Amino acid sequence: MKPAVIELKRGVHWVGVKDWGRRLFDGLIPLPHGTSYNAYLVKGSAKTALVDSVNPGFEGELLDKIRIIADPAALDYVVMNHAEPDHAGSIPVVLAASPKAQLVLTAKGADMAARYFHVPNDRMQIVKDGDTLDLGGKTLRFVDAPFLHWPETMFTYIIEDKVLFPCDFFGAHTAAGVYDDEVADLAVRAQMYFGEIMMPFRKAGERAMKKLAGLPIELIAPSHGPLWRHPETILNLYRKWTAGETLPKVVVAYVSMWGSTERLVRIAAETLLDAGIHVAVHELAHVDVGDLAGDLVDARAIVLGAPTVLGGLHPAALNAVNLVKALRPPLRYAAVLSSYGWGGGALRQAGEILGPTGIEVVGAVDVHGAPDADAEAQAATLATEIAARVRSSQQ
Ligand code: FEO
Repeated sequence: MKPAVIELKRGVHWVGVKDWGRRLFDGLIPLPHGTSYNAYLVKGSAKTALVDSVNPGFEGELLDKIRIIADPAALDYVVMNHAEPDHAGSIPVVLAASPKAQLVLTAKGADMAARYFHVPNDRMQIVKDGDTLDLGGKTLRFVDAPFLHWPETMFTYIIEDKVLFPCDFFGAHTAAGVYDDEVADLAVRAQMYFGEIMMPFRKAGERAMKKLAGLPIELIAPSHGPLWRHPETILNLYRKWTAGETLPKVVVAYVSMWGSTERLVRIAAETLLDAGIHVAVHELAHVDVGDLAGDLVDARAIVLGAPTVLGGLHPAALNAVNLVKALRPPLRYAAVLSSYGWGGGALRQAGEILGPTGIEVVGAVDVHGAPDADAEAQAATLATEIAARVRSSQQ
């Protein structure tokens, strides 16, 4: 089988791999469409550089692809934009096959390459923001972009070709397609990915977006998913997402055991819909974390439906509330709908977790047993209040 290599610009090739069958990332993130590990070979008239590598297990495929373009032993540089093993885990194999290649990375990246991959100091070349490497007609410029999403991350840019390699930033977990216009739901996939991976680092993302402003970019070639040959599409989305721009949208996330909490949730969701609010409902016992994370990227409020179990939040709801706390979405408001059999506890625990997040808990309804007409009216009133807050907020 002849492996696929794709020429993006003259002398610039995609030599990455598709992981069609992978279904979980970091033991947490579902990958219903697999993913890709995009690596790139940049060949100048004098020198050759590999930008990023691939997930361990695909080293042979990567080297086979490089061989179509160049002898791996002749590589001069291997650029490590990010130390996470899905991009850097093959570096030991690549450096062994490329004995004269220097590993190009940030100072923090050098520390990680030593710890994770035991790369010796004399194989590493540390670069700073704005440094360049001349490959002969192709100049790599390095852009410091820390905490996207690890401390050591940077971007690499080919000045002559106007190609940006931002590693994880602007990525999407899907093995489908090569270019952005070939994947119909790519914006949705990119939003899920942003929610799962970049949202906790929105401020760092905003700083990176400011750095990129004014840089002429013809192609964004991230490390996961399709390449953006219409870069404004993803740049526009990231401008909004990193700025924390929200929509008149409410995430309704709930779990129910015997229908009492669900009854309150349905009343709240219908009330919100009736008020013209965009409602995204997630049933937490079966939720895909990526779907929930994606909806949290631009939602202005959350309604949590969570019964008490054994004196606290139902475990599925506890998981969701902890996820909200960890992912730091730009939510402004929350409401909690709950029910209990003989003793509460869910509201208290939800308040303890949401309190430090800065999300205003507008109100709660807690029902002993099944909701009566009064409890149902309380749920509707609370949802009406959430709708009013969501509508009156600017973003
Ligand atoms: Fe795709 Fe942070 O690794």
